[in-house]
Amino acid sequence: MDEIYLNGKFTTKSNAQISIMDRGFLFGDGVYELIPVFNKKIFLLDKHLNRLKTSLNLIGMKTIDGLEKVIEKLISNNTKRNFFIYLHVTRGEQTHRNHVYPQSIEPTVLIMCEEYPSYNQSQINNGFSACIKEDFRWLKSNIKSISLLGNVLLKNYAVNNNFYETLLIRNNKLTEGSASNVFIVKDKVIYTPKLSNELLPGVTRDLLIDLLNNQDMEVIESDITVDELLLSDEIWCSSSTNAVVPIVKVDDTVIGTGSTGDISTLAHKITKDFIDKY
Ligand code: PDD
Repeated sequence: MDEIYLNGKFTTKSNAQISIMDRGFLFGDGVYELIPVFNKKIFLLDKHLNRLKTSLNLIGMKTIDGLEKVIEKLISNNTKRNFFIYLHVTRGEQTHRNHVYPQSIEPTVLIMCEEYPSYNQSQINNGFSACIKEDFRWLKSNIKSISLLGNVLLKNYAVNNNFYETLLIRNNKLTEGSASNVFIVKDKVIYTPKLSNELLPGVTRDLLIDLLNNQDMEVIESDITVDELLLSDEIWCSSSTNAVVPIVKVDDTVIGTGSTGDISTLAHKITKDFIDKY
């Protein structure tokens, strides 16, 4: 678990060093991906690398080649079978702190293995609670930026107040969670906020839309107001760390019956089946 890749070399977390002049450290100038590894197999790598390419492009950086080989080696050297690959690319190191970056700068590339807790079936059946907060983050949330201060504050607000997630609202519309995308169900119809600069195009969101479509269930990508969110029958959050997390209470409002609904249960099951067969 301790082996990492940094700028062309394999080393360990405790021995790895980066410069204090790295723009990732000084400005949060970089992008990242978090990719699940299930039973030693990297999950939906192409989709994650495509999103990385888009994020790099959106911040004016070039595509990084050769990442697949490095990821393969880290997975094969790891004694564990289930974990996550964390891939972090910053614009690189510069001699003086300056907002302006030189064109010739070499990116810093870090790839390491990380672990996150997963939930058992009884936790999924019981469901989780969430809170609502104003989405005060920047207006380029479609970029998977390492500048995560807004998300960090919003997620910590949730955890410190015994919620699983903070659901974010901008102009009376749901955008996403602090570290997840959000789906709601009303009268058996599934809705999720449509993609825009205000939310991350989640790989799990995309997968769920496909898997639900394969079950002849349509997912409508549209605006969702606060009232629609609070009056929904079911809600779930999706992310690479925990594919489908049902939400049964939002602040003081009980959602649906107050326990995980049928469509959330189905969404969780079809994702789990897909992962098991992958
Ligand atoms: N975050 N929206 C935000 C703000 C996120 O941080 C994430 C995931 C998602 C879901 O994206 P995906 O399905 O591709 O994981 C949506 C990861 C897990 C993280 O930052 O650790």
